[in-house]
Amino acid sequence: MGDFELLERDGLARIGRLSTPHGRLETPVLLPVVHPDPARQPVPAPELRRKFGLSAVITSSYITWRTPGLRERAEAEGIHGLLGFDGPVMTDSGAFQQHAYGHVEVGPEEILGFQRRIGSDIATVLDVFVEPSADHAAAEAGVATTTERARAAREVTRGLLAVPVQGGLHGDLRYRSAVEASETGDVLAVGGVVPLLEQYRFPALAQLLIAARPGLAPDKLVHLFGTGHPAAFAFAALFGVDVFDSSSYHKFARRGNLMFPEGTVSLDGIREPFCGCRLCGELPLTEVARLPAEEKERRLAEHNLLVCATEVARVRQAIRDGTLWELAERRATAHPGLLAGLRAAVRGARVFLPTEPESRRNFRVIGATSGLRPSVIRFLSHVARWKEGKGPFRPLGWRPLVPSILRALPSEDAGGAMLYYEVPTPLGGVPLELTELYPSGCYLGMEEFSEERTGVAAPDLSDVSLPEARDQLEVWTRRHVRALFEWQHGAEGVTLGQRPFEVERSRRTGRVRALFHGGRRTFILDFDGLPRPTFAGAELLRSSLAPPRARIRVAADATEFVAAGRSLFSKFVEGGDSSLVPGSSALLVDGADRLLAVGRLVLAPVEMGRMARGVAVRVVAHAKAPEPMPEPEPTPLGEGEDAPPDRSTGQL
Ligand code: GUN
Ligand code: ZN
Repeated sequence: MGDFELLERDGLARIGRLSTPHGRLETPVLLPVVHPDPARQPVPAPELRRKFGLSAVITSSYITWRTPGLRERAEAEGIHGLLGFDGPVMTDSGAFQQHAYGHVEVGPEEILGFQRRIGSDIATVLDVFVEPSADHAAAEAGVATTTERARAAREVTRGLLAVPVQGGLHGDLRYRSAVEASETGDVLAVGGVVPLLEQYRFPALAQLLIAARPGLAPDKLVHLFGTGHPAAFAFAALFGVDVFDSSSYHKFARRGNLMFPEGTVSLDGIREPFCGCRLCGELPLTEVARLPAEEKERRLAEHNLLVCATEVARVRQAIRDGTLWELAERRATAHPGLLAGLRAAVRGARVFLPTEPESRRNFRVIGATSGLRPSVIRFLSHVARWKEGKGPFRPLGWRPLVPSILRALPSEDAGGAMLYYEVPTPLGGVPLELTELYPSGCYLGMEEFSEERTGVAAPDLSDVSLPEARDQLEVWTRRHVRALFEWQHGAEGVTLGQRPFEVERSRRTGRVRALFHGGRRTFILDFDGLPRPTFAGAELLRSSLAPPRARIRVAADATEFVAAGRSLFSKFVEGGDSSLVPGSSALLVDGADRLLAVGRLVLAPVEMGRMARGVAVRVVAHAKAPEPMPEPEPTPLGEGEDAPPDRSTGQL
């Protein structure tokens, strides 16, 4: 119990699970705030799972403790008995009441002891709610007290503990608080943010999440206190928030407001039955307006809960699809505050980069920050590095890595000097050899649909004298292969790329599909344009690249399993190439640098070994099954060898 297991991810966002005494939390998860007094709870706790699929809840231990009648019942029946809920129950400690009323009447030991006695699955340390307006000294004192109480709490309990991360708007304190919470907590609960959420101050929220991030242990859950608006779930998930909680569904309902991922709508103005959800199928919103006050409030609360639960499912699906940035950008149109928050997020690209996947299936432009996503920042800085010492680059038209163009494109001038070209893409200038790489190769933006687009532009060669025209395809193919290995492995890759590879091209699209060496298939080019090694290719990489490049070293107890094709678990990772990222291909080697298998990273190297459970590297090929599963080819838009690759996959 208590070890977080990561199953799928998209950047910092993760699908994972955590066992509690009352069942598993499957993250990202929304914990609706349930009032401990069943009479004051608009949607009875037992219905939450049945009607909305909400499998865990949070409630206030402080209100329970403070309210005569509730305290005795909770002591007698446990918190699950009091709520009538048998799934995981997290309890909060009362710090929020300190924010709301200026004080709490309970001490840290007493409220922790109470949470344990009533059988809370995740007890929260009584933190100091640090207001966003707090100065550095006050915030520092709040963090210090919170940490002290967390350490004392850890001494006396082996149960799951949520430890708040405070620090106000002071980045250094958020980081320190995150580091200290990671030492004692199972759930790292970022707090003191409700005032920011209420005022749509998403840039400030982004900045503090960015500041805290490097301090948050990767094997702990990250909770964000008070994230209740469905428009903000995708945004929070981008930063690696695994647990949302909120009473907003009820608060909004009380004020006659409906929450949608696209924004908030007041029931008063609704004249059209525009919502097609199952609750509206029973009773459209236009009818709900006519109900008596109490019933109306319940109906609205239910509606808000359904919308929230659906949006969490949507976020989970986006993580599985690798489209969370796109979803967050779509949702940001709900409020300019969210748009501003995304802009602050992309400015913090460095915290996203270690877990940013090597590639994704699609890159679809949604809004103003799309071209600034971490994947683009990384790509462009990698391009700049690749271009060093090369050039000058001559502009060339759109997407020309197809044989009919390469055949006629001079690669050297009459004096034998290399000619370089780059494609002016919406992301920036991309050298010809690299145009198929993610995100350039799958970029789908407005430009694709511009009627003004001309065909492939002829390069301007007026200042060079050219040799006689001859078929350049072979020369370009060699340059392309060399460029890809240099892209992946730097100078060592150049030497590898100069080996005599034979190339197999797709008959339909003309794209390079596989590289052969010594008669054996060694690399398969994936949809992202990167050469992925077969077992034979991995052997070639191992003999060409010095350790630790491209490698993950497997502990002795696991070598046999990995060599037989089993996944490499985090706890058996001994070391490796720290520049790899999730999705990278890696050589799995033993202590003597013998090749055991080829894998694809699930975890970032910084996370390996720190996660007690779960897979670090998925094995895709090993000695007995040396070929990775090839990716299916994209469906072409047209026929013929020069048909552009289909970039219109996915739904509108
Ligand atoms: N609920 C909303 N914000 C907070 C917070 O900062 N700490 C705690 N314990 N609960 C909260
Ligand atoms: Zn509806």
